[in-house]
Amino acid sequence: MAAYEFIDHKFDVVVVGAGGSGLRAALGCAQAGLKTACITKVFPTRSHTVAAQGGISASLGNMGEDDWRWHMYDTVKGSDWLGDQDAIEYLCRNAPAAVYELEHWGVPFSRTADGKIYQRAFGGMTRNFGEAPIQRTCAAADRTGHAMLHTMYGQSLAHDTEFFIEFFALDLIMDEGVCRGVTAWKLDDGTLHRFQAQMVILATGGYGRAYFSCTSAHTCTGDGGGMALRAGLPLQDMEFVQFHPTGIYGAGCLITEGARGEGGYLTNSEGERFMERYAPTVKDLAPRDMVSRAMTIEIREGRGVGPNKDHIFLHLDHLDPKILAERLPGISESAKIFAGVDVTKEPIPVLPTVHYNMGGIPTNFYSEVVTKAGKNPDQVVPGLMAVGEAACVSVHGANRLGSNSLIDLVVFGRSAALRAADVLTPGASQPELKDHMTDGHLARFDRFRHAAGEVPTAELRLEMQRAMQEDAAVFRTGESLTSGVKRLQAVHDKRKHIRVTDRSMIWNSDLMETLEFDNLVGQAAVTVNGAANRTESRGAHAREDFPDRDDKKWMKHTLAWFDDKTGKVKLDDRPVHNFTMSNDIAYIPPKARVY
Ligand code: FUM
Repeated sequence: MAAYEFIDHKFDVVVVGAGGSGLRAALGCAQAGLKTACITKVFPTRSHTVAAQGGISASLGNMGEDDWRWHMYDTVKGSDWLGDQDAIEYLCRNAPAAVYELEHWGVPFSRTADGKIYQRAFGGMTRNFGEAPIQRTCAAADRTGHAMLHTMYGQSLAHDTEFFIEFFALDLIMDEGVCRGVTAWKLDDGTLHRFQAQMVILATGGYGRAYFSCTSAHTCTGDGGGMALRAGLPLQDMEFVQFHPTGIYGAGCLITEGARGEGGYLTNSEGERFMERYAPTVKDLAPRDMVSRAMTIEIREGRGVGPNKDHIFLHLDHLDPKILAERLPGISESAKIFAGVDVTKEPIPVLPTVHYNMGGIPTNFYSEVVTKAGKNPDQVVPGLMAVGEAACVSVHGANRLGSNSLIDLVVFGRSAALRAADVLTPGASQPELKDHMTDGHLARFDRFRHAAGEVPTAELRLEMQRAMQEDAAVFRTGESLTSGVKRLQAVHDKRKHIRVTDRSMIWNSDLMETLEFDNLVGQAAVTVNGAANRTESRGAHAREDFPDRDDKKWMKHTLAWFDDKTGKVKLDDRPVHNFTMSNDIAYIPPKARVY
């Protein structure tokens, strides 16, 4: 590929992505004396973590007694027993220290009257193993992710992380199964770069934009997942897609679950607080999968609100306006802008909206990427880690609890840095990179840059998004998923007819969106194929034709490989970790998931 030349860089660690998990990993690696780069397609404080609203879970016990074991129990139950219990133990045990670390770095948490970190209730978080809702979610008003991101960006700079901003990562440099670095395109001057590293940490977020309506930013195109698939690595549990119950009707913007944590509630067209029927103990504070299903059923059965009876009302209008202004200022503004609603006087029209991917790049709790090799289901891929929504540790299993995402970012961002510090030697020599390792990257880049077919990227992307929205929704059936598989195959096949009109190398958003679309389409395909294959209902994967959880057959993780040439998906599985990390806590055996 003589037409392109790389500019070379060498680091101990290269982190791809500058959201919460990427920044936490990068600053930890730099702190440990590793020469660390962080490459990111957007300015760090514009990463999608900035949009996280309600808070970060940790059993601080500031609003009454709490215990990390209760948090662990809730997370295992929330995951519908698909989460790995060793990783869940790691998360919940380490959560309080991770939040205090953020506090000491300067995150401006809201405060209780006696100056402690304020905590609010969130769905599925309970006291004493399911007895009653608990206030466990630490909040900075309803801008918690924003506060964390700004604080950690400052800390990363203080610890000498070298940032490469508006660099779009292209592909992993693989050498006989070992990751040696990553290639990237510098958007503002059109140069191409090779970042060599002893360790690459993918912190590239979720792929919410595979759907038509989501709370995710337009940048959430799962670039790390796309790179992993092209490197021949599997993704795990991709059929589990979370719908957040309260996306603003029409716009899809998030209204935090913290709104219900502060006393908000949902009603149908009869004015009924219907969650009392579906989850009698925790009601509106049931986990997201259950609330989303309940709302969908209400609408289907004719009890939706509005002229078309196609959404639900979220009420905050009974709450003290002073509390709303202090604790929920951001969503009060969003409701005004995107729904024209004054939350102190009227309900907000809401609808379940795609919010989070439980699946991702499989890792262990050290954040090392794993794959199945022969009989070993936990084979570490040397030189590669993944953290945050891009990864599947798996702490969220089949359904994530609200506010367990922000804590996942920092706990596993930190664990990646600790592991990197353990296994790497600063400045250790690295093998020479060879052209054949990156020829495929350049060929793909060049092919899309000069794509002269008849289908514009936007048209094909819309076709993918509509298929996902219609066929892999809150409720699925064998029929809808078979249709989804076919529609995604058709989208893949049309990819060879794609048209990119801008051939330039500088600020070419047409090409960048095409590369992003290409990252999305493989992940969309493994999502529908995995969902069609899993003939049970568990967490967010609700099959109407298989309404029950089937632990005997399906308590296992799906692994999915994607053949980029044919668009075909290969499926396998690996066992769920039904053991804990340490001896002082027992495995939590499965039972019915009722609230
Ligand atoms: O509802 C929310 O504030 C979102 C939080 C989360 O996804 O963890």
